[in-house]
Amino acid sequence: MAIAVTSPQMLADAAELGQSSAQKIILAAQDAADVGGFETADEVLERRKLIGRITSGSKALDELLGGGFESQAIIELYGEFGSGKTQIAHQLAVNVTRPEDEGGLEGETVWIDTENTFRPSRISQMASALELEPSKVLKTIHVARAFNSHHQMLLVDEALKEAEKFPIKLLVVDSMTGHFRAEYIGRGALAERQQLLNKHMHALLRFGDVHNAVICVTNQVLAKPDAFFGDPTRPIGGHIVGHTATFRVYLRKSKGGKRIARLTDSPNLPEGEAVFIVTGDGIID
Ligand code: GTP
Ligand code: MG
Repeated sequence: MAIAVTSPQMLADAAELGQSSAQKIILAAQDAADVGGFETADEVLERRKLIGRITSGSKALDELLGGGFESQAIIELYGEFGSGKTQIAHQLAVNVTRPEDEGGLEGETVWIDTENTFRPSRISQMASALELEPSKVLKTIHVARAFNSHHQMLLVDEALKEAEKFPIKLLVVDSMTGHFRAEYIGRGALAERQQLLNKHMHALLRFGDVHNAVICVTNQVLAKPDAFFGDPTRPIGGHIVGHTATFRVYLRKSKGGKRIARLTDSPNLPEGEAVFIVTGDGIID
């Protein structure tokens, strides 16, 4: 399916083929896979019934997202440092292992770590708090360090291989944008950065579709508490992933260790806010 929907140019580049060979391969893949064309809305409804959800640990945050972090979608968590992006991702990686009636998908996780912020000790703590066996949960999380943006993009292909061996239901990219920001600096590099990020996001979305998995990506932005006009939640540096993410959640720190999540973009849910806190045991209301 991944090959069937790719462009001849992309396949030619990736596999070092001529365009016409790439075209033939794509046509063969289209024959083999049921790429389909149009479907009626009731069929879309049937497919959407397969969508699963992972609880965040906070009822309020789940409700904001229509019942949890949903599969076949990219959820972008954005906010300033310490706003809870990485903590939520850890919690999802623990919760995805649980049965469906307890807010999981009985699945495993692929974690693409770009800033060395994945902490097995946090997973153990959160697992113990839910009376799960930490050693078992740790075995379900497949972590890879991404050393630069190019490597980060390659790891999505590796994730597809991992998903053939394990029931991957959650893919985390933390941070989605760090390497891209650091490597593509200045106006001149902006177009190329956007193009690569777009490609990366679409590869992630395809992973989510093929494996009915939840895709959670993080994006650090600077808070703008002093903004006089415009949207204070608008990330400085622009919406570098925003247009491909299915749901966008803006996180900010509040008084007394509270965190506020604000749904800023969704195809079917109203904007709104939820309050949660990060504790030693994990994310709670
Ligand atoms: P950046 O990656 O720097 O952009 O930040 P982030 O949004 O990923 O922040 P992260 O999720 O790492 O949140 C860090 C915050 O979570 C800390 O400042 C603490 O307030 C809280 N936190 C992390 N670990 C613990 C813990 O074990 N116990 C408690 N109570 N709080 C924790
Ligand atoms: Mg982080």
